[in-house]
Amino acid sequence: MVQYDDKRLVVAIDGPAGAGKSTVARQVSKDLGYIYIDTGAMYRALTLKALRQGIDLEDEKALTKFAEETDIRITHRDHTQVIFMDGEDVSVEIRSPEVSQSVSLVAKVPGVRIEMVRIQRELAKGGGVVMDGRDIGSYVLPDADFKIFLTASTMERARRRARDLEAAGYEVEIIKLAKEIAARDEIDSSRQMAPLVQPQDALLIDTSEMNFDEVVAKIKECIQQL
Ligand code: DC
Repeated sequence: MVQYDDKRLVVAIDGPAGAGKSTVARQVSKDLGYIYIDTGAMYRALTLKALRQGIDLEDEKALTKFAEETDIRITHRDHTQVIFMDGEDVSVEIRSPEVSQSVSLVAKVPGVRIEMVRIQRELAKGGGVVMDGRDIGSYVLPDADFKIFLTASTMERARRRARDLEAAGYEVEIIKLAKEIAARDEIDSSRQMAPLVQPQDALLIDTSEMNFDEVVAKIKECIQQL
């Protein structure tokens, strides 16, 4: 039997915020012996730096230049992604509510996306990768071996985000969170360049009524059949 490590497949997982992409992608990559790349973290790292420096998030030209000058690197520790921004490990700080609220504005700038997509394609070159984001199957890696579109209802996604944020020590209101998630979906889906869309050739999985193990098992079962 061919080992997955030998096949070195490229797996793309897209979907809206809070659909469970990162937890699922991390587990699938671990089980297959693949690398996991969370592309949202790259846009978050840039947003963190922009907020720290007080850059106007409406200034596309400034953000493009800024993206070109920022050194974004990804490494892994125990199958968990660690992200460095200009040499600083920002893996925890990029999850703050402030970054979550602003990141869509940064991610919609074409010049920013061009730079991040260049890095993402480079990371996927050797295969053996599970990459998650919004435009991976539709734009970054259109030739991926397997594409999944993971989604869930807005309320369910808000509940999951609330659990994560509470575990990290933040106080949250579910309704407010649901509104923020819906607003972020709207910006991500309507932006001009590489919007959030379900690729035609992607497997749609609605995780509203599924638990984590069921989602992971379903994806692995499909990959086994490739
Ligand atoms: O998945 P996340 O919440 O960490 O993503 C953060 C933001 O980055 C979100 O607004 C969507 C955007 N994003 C994107 O536009 N393209 C990607 N490939 C990944 C994330």
